[in-house]
Amino acid sequence: MKIFVYHTPAFVPTVGTPDCAIAIDVLRATTSIATALASGAEAIEVFADLEALEQASAHHPAELTLKAAERGGCKVSGYDLGNSPFEYSEEVVKGKRIFMTTTNGTRALQRVKDVPHVVAGSLVNLQSVVNFLLELAPAVVWIVCAGWEGNFALEDTVCAGAILAHLQKQQNCTHGNDEAIAAVALYQQWYNQLEELLRHASHGQRLAKLGVTSDLSYCAGLNSLDVLPKQTAPGVLTAG
Ligand code: MLT
Repeated sequence: MKIFVYHTPAFVPTVGTPDCAIAIDVLRATTSIATALASGAEAIEVFADLEALEQASAHHPAELTLKAAERGGCKVSGYDLGNSPFEYSEEVVKGKRIFMTTTNGTRALQRVKDVPHVVAGSLVNLQSVVNFLLELAPAVVWIVCAGWEGNFALEDTVCAGAILAHLQKQQNCTHGNDEAIAAVALYQQWYNQLEELLRHASHGQRLAKLGVTSDLSYCAGLNSLDVLPKQTAPGVLTAG
């Protein structure tokens, strides 16, 4: 297994396709997606923008639809949900299809939607992602970090490093690029202080200013969920 890490969707090669892609947005889209599916949501459908979300959701039965939109860390006014994992409780999401757009995370998922196998990774479902990769044993994997508006994000890269470090314990896998080596080094430095790392991260600080510090603890909770958000149609994720 050869693993490439990309710090933002903009670094993803425009030629070639891997066997599998893992999209990561620890703060907070892929954490919220994992939470929603663990809470019994039927599926999450991801969109890069509000207009595409509105068009697609209009064709789904209203009683089974929730619309989630976040920009700049805040819920977009008029939508059912923002992007805090605490909003995705069983009482709210069970049996519902969630049409979701976020600043960076859903764009990362959209960027890899044509890859044969796509899953959403985060710290909360790390072991599920590792188990999936061990079972599938794809030759080439792209780990695509959401980043923040085209820039590197510590929390996504540490999660990429955690996936690689856990795989390396159990399987002969190789680094596809220097970013993969750097991601493992970052994880090795911070593996027992993940919440602290999230608090240092620029998006962690942005969320703290918005008063959502409990989200940081939740998003740092390694393996708190046993769920694998897996793409079953382009842009549609269900619990694997
Ligand atoms: C994103 O997609 O950039 C985020 O998940 C932002 C957030 O809501 O924290």
